[in-house]
Amino acid sequence: MSTTTMPTIPALANALPRVEDEIRQLATSSTLPIVNSFSGRITAAGGKRLRSVVLLAGSLALAGEVSEKAVKAAACVELLHAGSLVHDDLMDNAVERRGVRTVNAEWGPGPAVLVGDFMLARASQAALEWISPFAAGKLAAAVTDLVEGQVLEVLDLYDVHRSPDAALRSIALKTGALFRVGCVLAAHCASASDEVTIRLSEYGAHFGLLFQILDDLLDLTSSVERLGKPVGNDIRQGVYTFPLLRSLTEVQREMLAARGRELGDDELTGLLTELRGGGLVPETIAYCRSLAEQTVLALPEVPESEALEILRQLPAAYLEWAVSQI
Ligand code: FPP
Ligand code: MG
Ligand code: MG
Repeated sequence: MSTTTMPTIPALANALPRVEDEIRQLATSSTLPIVNSFSGRITAAGGKRLRSVVLLAGSLALAGEVSEKAVKAAACVELLHAGSLVHDDLMDNAVERRGVRTVNAEWGPGPAVLVGDFMLARASQAALEWISPFAAGKLAAAVTDLVEGQVLEVLDLYDVHRSPDAALRSIALKTGALFRVGCVLAAHCASASDEVTIRLSEYGAHFGLLFQILDDLLDLTSSVERLGKPVGNDIRQGVYTFPLLRSLTEVQREMLAARGRELGDDELTGLLTELRGGGLVPETIAYCRSLAEQTVLALPEVPESEALEILRQLPAAYLEWAVSQI
């Protein structure tokens, strides 16, 4: 989602450049400048910074301001996210992200492992030094979730009988956990009550699911120009996602069972064309509309504010943006 389509308010727009500054600082190694060209590759290419927007809006809604700690927490979450993407691109054999060649495509698997590790370590170290042991512990727990979600995905690769629920379990961990921890940190920085923290973290968890289901849909329906990464990569890599599993016909499932690992370009294009002409898009959008509503319902009961309104608008705005990319 571009900054022009994202609902925003001045306090949020002013805080995002501060997060960028922190990210740049975190992704830099003073002892080994070569690391900077690796990590700079993914951090400079930017991204939607959606996790930061949710965290900062949450912090504004609960505390009435964006504290220095909240900005730093957002940078830690973004760096962790960036590190996980470096590893993810290696695992997914991805050559391009955000229109830029991936670390694994440019330098190979070794640097990709190390750059991901560097970012992960830096984020944990910063959370401990800049925020609190609690924050560092929560981030570490989120990394565990990410890894577990990714393991569930790997165990099911090329399994045409993977259930949609199994796909949901994986994405709740691999994507939901980071949105969730962003919300936990927002509440922590605002010294919110346990009840408010739990509600806001549920908002984050739901938002993460919504985000990943739409990401998975776009992988099946969008174009490389719009996405900044090749389309159909999930099927090619054997990642049978929630929207795909819900809309596969028996004939398509049998074709994938027989041809999955050796699927040719023409077979993939044919399958994608069929899927786009079937129930995939309307059914996934309907599911996501309901998920967006549930996300908003999870919001804690806190005093009305512009930031709370942003949190209310974000899920539907993100959904509409994703629909525009189909
Ligand atoms: C993107 O999913 C990937 C994730 C949400 C998590 C990846 C997690 C790991 C590789 C393990 C943890 C590693 C560290 C350093 C914490 P996707 O491949 O479906 O999305 P994409 O279309 O953006 O590639
Ligand atoms: Mg992946
Ligand atoms: Mg990937």
